[in-house]
Amino acid sequence: MKRLALIPFLLFVTFLMAFCGTANSPVPSAQEESTHQPSDSSGCRYLVIYASRSGNTERAAKLIQTTLDCDLLEIEPGTPYESDYNAMLERARVELASIRQGNYPPVRTEVNSFENYDIIFIGYPIWFGEMATPMQSFLHAQAYKLAGKRIAVFATSGSSSIATSVEEARTLCPETTLTDPALLLTSSDLSEMDSLIPEWLQKIGVTRK
Ligand SMILES: Cc1cc2nc3c(=O)[nH]c(=O)nc-3n(C[C@H](O)[C@H](O)[C@H](O)COP(=O)(O)O)c2cc1C
Repeated sequence: MKRLALIPFLLFVTFLMAFCGTANSPVPSAQEESTHQPSDSSGCRYLVIYASRSGNTERAAKLIQTTLDCDLLEIEPGTPYESDYNAMLERARVELASIRQGNYPPVRTEVNSFENYDIIFIGYPIWFGEMATPMQSFLHAQAYKLAGKRIAVFATSGSSSIATSVEEARTLCPETTLTDPALLLTSSDLSEMDSLIPEWLQKIGVTRK
């Protein structure tokens, strides 16, 4: 009889142990999931995060990074970008439509914490007038960690405006402060990046620390 009474108790203890085990086990960290992490080695309070398919935004991001001597992180899409331009256009159309339905395509990059940074630079290409989908996905997933931070937005495009994507950044990260103005480099600006980026950094009051 006593043994029978022990069974519910043992079941309860087993359940408790299993529950505590789950609660305490670390959530898969950014290091495990992502392909890149900020180096966090310079002690600099700025982080440049970018998405780029054909390299224009990457060039701008790297120029900001070298100018400020700060950390850099690339957002990689879950599925690599299509190399065929038309296929990429079609994919972007599908992904943008799916985001409108609340389904964000996966990205391979996460950040554990933005605690070490005062300003986070967010750079992306304009796709159909909007923020490129990998950056939308990243911001959607990380917004709660960015709360209270200052964000400086920059983008590259053929010629389209940055305005819609700035509103998207505001909506995706409602608890951040966006620096004004955002920087847009259109295809005709790209060759003048070397002067346009330092001018912009000066305008928003960011200097090398
Ligand atoms: C899927 C896709 C959609 C694009 N849509 C636009 C657009 O609406 N307006 C525009 O001016 N440029 C558009 N572009 C051009 C890119 O914004 C531009 O080439 C940008 O600099 C690419 O940046 P990246 O080299 O960092 O990928 C588009 C490019 C792609 C691949």
